[in-house]
Amino acid sequence: MNILVTGGAGYIGSHTCVELLNAGYGVVVVDNLCNSNPKSLERVEELTGRKITFYRGDVRDKALMDKIFAENEIAAVIHFAGLKAVGESVAQPWRYYDNNLNSTLVLTKAMEEAGVKNIIFSSSATVYSGDNEMPLREDSRTGGCTNPYGWTKYMTEQILSGMCTADSSWSVALLRYFNPIGAHESGRIGEDPRGIPNNLMPFITQVAVGRREFLSVYGNDYPTPDGTGVRDYIHVVDLAKGHVAAVRYVTEHTGCEVFNLGTGVGYSVLEMVKTFERANNLTLPYKIVDRRPGDLPTCYADPSKSAEILGWRAEKNLEDMCRDSWRWQSRNPMGYAD
Ligand code: NAD
Ligand code: WQD
Repeated sequence: MNILVTGGAGYIGSHTCVELLNAGYGVVVVDNLCNSNPKSLERVEELTGRKITFYRGDVRDKALMDKIFAENEIAAVIHFAGLKAVGESVAQPWRYYDNNLNSTLVLTKAMEEAGVKNIIFSSSATVYSGDNEMPLREDSRTGGCTNPYGWTKYMTEQILSGMCTADSSWSVALLRYFNPIGAHESGRIGEDPRGIPNNLMPFITQVAVGRREFLSVYGNDYPTPDGTGVRDYIHVVDLAKGHVAAVRYVTEHTGCEVFNLGTGVGYSVLEMVKTFERANNLTLPYKIVDRRPGDLPTCYADPSKSAEILGWRAEKNLEDMCRDSWRWQSRNPMGYAD
């Protein structure tokens, strides 16, 4: 059974390709490489001993998408392709709406015409509104997003669920990721952000490898046990396995279902720093600075629906995440550019 993975050369996509290939699926990737390096896919092939069919191009290119569906028997699509930097989306809203919404519209049109109606979408905990009680359940309030990136995820969920309402033969899984970190335990693939990292873990690993002087901890006066922000970090390999479970689900059911992919446990920024130091036996210089605008104090999942319905739960702990992130960064100090 072949799975089309859009954005498969990226961070989560490349790890998901490994798990799909290891589970016996054929993998077809389309990626325009706007935020990734084709070496990731070469390394996925090397890790799994399996070949990937790769199309370099844009998901918004309808002729290309038609060609991919004509040339391959696709059972389901995992749609990772998208732009994901929150701050950049505030500065470049049109680019984010164009890329993230038009890619979904073109992709689903091509799918419909090809008779492929099973899709898994990379949504985000960012679609939950900021006034919910923790932990977040799939039926917690959504909306009130604070940036265009978040709205693209919210709107894409609306588009896909509306399509299911109109046509009961569609099968959609909306996967709301919490905070993916870590890397494949081989140290061969991992997260390789361009420019200054926005997210905590790539910033930490770049400090540890000497590319940045110190970590700025954004605020220590939040209403949390140590005053720093609390998040639900999930190992990217666990997340990737969640997609394999979702492929099984969408190929066996119809309708639209939302699933949280998180661990259910929150850790603070300082707990992360201490765990990273302990797991890797190093010291991480940091400074407390002002809060980052738009950050919530605390965010973590209730992952029980995914456990019950997908039969999936995260298995790796924070130490595993810290160790694997560092193995990737220390062996590839400049990411795939090395
Ligand atoms: P990533 O940037 O590493 O991967 C995205 C991939 O999509 C890249 O390889 C990029 O080149 C490709 N791409 C982007 N637009 C494209 C287009 N129009 N056509 C073809 N390819 C295109 O990001 P990631 O961290 O792997 O995230 C994957 C998905 O998961 C994204 O949709 C992201 O919004 C979502 N997500 C990520 C996180 C996170 O923290 N990493 C959290 C929640 C949701
Ligand atoms: C985590 C914690 C920061 C960097 C973002 C997106 C979200 C999702 C995942 C895609 C917070 C603190 C961070 C730093 C710090 N992406 N921090 N110093 O903000 O939870 O979520 O990525 O969907 O949409 O908003 O993740 O890794 O940026 O921050 O102190 O240099 O680390 O304040 O408490 P966040 P993050």
